[in-house]
Amino acid sequence: MGLRTKVRTAINKKWRYPMQTYRPKNLRTPQNLIQITSAWVGLEQVIEDILERFDIQRDRCIEFGTEFCYSTVALSNYFKQVIGVDLFTGDEHSGYKEDHYEKTSKSVAPFDNIELIQSDYRDYIKQDDTQYDFAHVDIIHTYEGTYECGLWAVEHSKCCVFHDTESFVEVRQAVFDLAKHTGKRLYNYPRHHGLGIIV
Ligand SMILES: C[S@@+](CC[C@H](N)C(=O)[O-])C[C@H]1O[C@@H](n2cnc3c(N)ncnc32)[C@H](O)[C@@H]1O
Repeated sequence: MGLRTKVRTAINKKWRYPMQTYRPKNLRTPQNLIQITSAWVGLEQVIEDILERFDIQRDRCIEFGTEFCYSTVALSNYFKQVIGVDLFTGDEHSGYKEDHYEKTSKSVAPFDNIELIQSDYRDYIKQDDTQYDFAHVDIIHTYEGTYECGLWAVEHSKCCVFHDTESFVEVRQAVFDLAKHTGKRLYNYPRHHGLGIIV
């Protein structure tokens, strides 16, 4: 398939999964952020607006896919506890890396409400059946991975957000299907590669 056909197919697919646009009232930059490159940069400004809009408590947050913890630290501004689950070896979309668990753990040590767990999400979800106020899914951007991890996250949280709904059709489709399957409300914030919101 040529590049133009690929792009056209992706655009057509995207419109098959319509989502109500999330329009924030206030964009606010949280105090604690780390200065690293991440596709998540910018989304830190919309988190508090989402928490207020849907009246989300601020005790427990879980994140699948921390990489170097840009989003993890952003979320740590709003919750008493943030658990971050990652392989810390990357994947085919974000790039494979040497194991960076120790180094990344040290870099977030100043934020004492962050706990990093090195695990495949598939192993982690087998042994945690607790509930969270908020969940964030930003792992490998396949349909299967997003759907499987997302189903657990949606069922174990009040509000679950998914990164890359604009840049990966597979993520958008999985988020669309998850909202349909669980009967929950679905929104999409289209900036910064897209943030799907299931609440
Ligand atoms: C796009 S990055 C996350 C970016 C991060 N949220 C940020 O703010 O920059 C995706 C991460 O998902 C992790 N990952 C991929 N597959 C995974 C799996 N099966 N279980 C746990 N983590 C996984 C990768 O190791 C990678 O660090």
